[in-house]
Amino acid sequence: MGRTYLKGGALIAPVPAALVTCGTEDGKRNVLTAAWTGIVNTRPPMAYVSIRPERHSYSIIKETGEFVINLTTSKMAREVDFCGMKSGNKLDKFAKCGFETVKGENVSCPVILSSPVSIECKVREAAELGSHTMFIGDIVGVSVDERYIDSKGKINLQQAGLLAYAHGEYFALGRKLGDFGFSVKKKGRK
Ligand SMILES: Cc1cc2nc3c(=O)[nH]c(=O)nc-3n(C[C@H](O)[C@H](O)[C@H](O)COP(=O)(O)O)c2cc1C
Repeated sequence: MGRTYLKGGALIAPVPAALVTCGTEDGKRNVLTAAWTGIVNTRPPMAYVSIRPERHSYSIIKETGEFVINLTTSKMAREVDFCGMKSGNKLDKFAKCGFETVKGENVSCPVILSSPVSIECKVREAAELGSHTMFIGDIVGVSVDERYIDSKGKINLQQAGLLAYAHGEYFALGRKLGDFGFSVKKKGRK
């Protein structure tokens, strides 16, 4: 079989479909769905979210310099899609989706309690790339639903049912295939 060659496009997948919260828990706040998000550095830990300037969330993040990346689950798929279809400029998406929130530990933004992992970020850099502005943030704290902390204190998200997004479609994360480094691990060694 041959390969079809296309012009350059945003085709890396799967990616998370995250709910990015911004603003202040007790004041002006918002939530939008973002698929253009991820980790960009380990030490110091940094993450990014790329947002179009026309989004309501954009001006809030620009003004406050904070955002939270809330990972999502299959159970949240409908709300995730909704928050990516409707703007918060005239609508309280938190109320509409029934999201319970608390203030972040290290930022003023709301954290969505049904999210298994919420990554609190402070903007270090905003790169205007074209259609999107990439907000690169220092990860200043992370909160995890206690259900996903195992007896050894490690994060175990196997039961969380994480949601993935690929080329315009939502997927439930599938079957586990191995642990980091399994391909080079000596047999019998733990
Ligand atoms: C699955 C999905 C992924 C999205 N990813 C992004 C993204 O990475 N960046 C962005 O600016 N908009 C993205 N959007 C669109 C925004 O979420 C959408 O325009 C939203 O209504 C903006 O909300 P706001 O105006 O309240 O900020 C995405 C939408 C969906 C459904």
